[in-house]
Amino acid sequence: MSYLASNYNRRKLSFKKGKGSFLYSYNGVKYLDFLSGIAVNTLGHANPKLIKALNIQAKKVWHVSNSFQIPEGEVLAKKLAKKTFAEKVIFCNSGAEANETAIKVARRYFYSIGKPNKNRILCIKNSFHGRTLANIFASGSKKMTEGFGPKVSGFDHFIYSDLKSLKKKITKKTAAIFFETAMGESGIKVHTKKFLRNVKKICKEKKILLILDEVQCGIGRSGKFFAYEYANVKPDIVPIAKGIGGGFPIGAVLMTKKVSRCMIPGTHGSTYGGNPLAMVVGNAIMDEVFKKGFLSNVRKNSKYFLKKLNNLKKNYPKVINEIRGIGLLIGLQVKVDLGNFINKLTENKLLTIRAAENVVRILPPLNVKKKEIDLALKIIDKVCSEY
Ligand SMILES: Cc1ncc(COP(=O)(O)O)c(C=O)c1O
Repeated sequence: MSYLASNYNRRKLSFKKGKGSFLYSYNGVKYLDFLSGIAVNTLGHANPKLIKALNIQAKKVWHVSNSFQIPEGEVLAKKLAKKTFAEKVIFCNSGAEANETAIKVARRYFYSIGKPNKNRILCIKNSFHGRTLANIFASGSKKMTEGFGPKVSGFDHFIYSDLKSLKKKITKKTAAIFFETAMGESGIKVHTKKFLRNVKKICKEKKILLILDEVQCGIGRSGKFFAYEYANVKPDIVPIAKGIGGGFPIGAVLMTKKVSRCMIPGTHGSTYGGNPLAMVVGNAIMDEVFKKGFLSNVRKNSKYFLKKLNNLKKNYPKVINEIRGIGLLIGLQVKVDLGNFINKLTENKLLTIRAAENVVRILPPLNVKKKEIDLALKIIDKVCSEY
């Protein structure tokens, strides 16, 4: 009997150790880990640079709280600001917390400029922003909110990639448009550059803030540091998490100076947010991701992987419906039973994870090797051939 509550449908697998793109189970089996703790392990498992950064800090100081200056956090905030649109950063601990904070910043911004009624957040129907109360109601998903009423109000919804539906839902009260630049849990759905540019244009015209959730698609996963860079649009607020910690829990909200001014002392806080252990890991991740050739290598591997997967699609039209993705955020939409397909991949020592719309999510570490991609392709090929 387990004393853990039953809110997860866990696979009967546990791991003793990990190295690079591989995980080793307690019963001695080696798995190719192409889910990376759901887009978290940016540099794979047991990366020496991350271990070193964490170990050095662990011997100095673990936690002091935000009652004090945290120099390691100053360094990470500066690195994020220098490389992105951001001018100010608030650190927290997870993606859901980053999104909640982003919503708070947007609302507080309009409050601070004398428009407290401009407080509604326009999101995509059936999206995913995390599991806190505000975020599940932001998602507009019946499944996620069922049984968790009363409804958290203040959220409106438009249909994915449908500009007409978006325009229809905008009112004088709309404070922010809030969605994932490339949608992960919802089935690996990538907005077109045109759509993103049009949304930005609308935001400008109607004085609405643009919040782009890059919790899953950010930190190089898309092949650019942020996925919005492909469209060359400038958001106002960007929540991040997952990849910036590489396995250590970190979240952050990046924002412009203009919107950040409303977050005066007392408006927001977190005991752990930005703690020194987390910050040194974040700094080490940033240093690696911005090394020359790192992001271009993600794009190169992505191109190769997507091309080969599209070949498999041609070979197995009865099994694979569509290949989706950007960078190393890849989706394989199957025509067969999704759980069964993922189980078969697992039996063949390839770990992946499901997403909506019958999609197998493939999320290798960003420093994955070509020969590891080839191994994954071989396994996918074998599993497809068994249908
Ligand atoms: C786009 C997006 N936003 C937010 C979250 C929530 O992050 P966390 O699980 O760290 O709270 C996730 C998690 O999968 C996500 O994919």
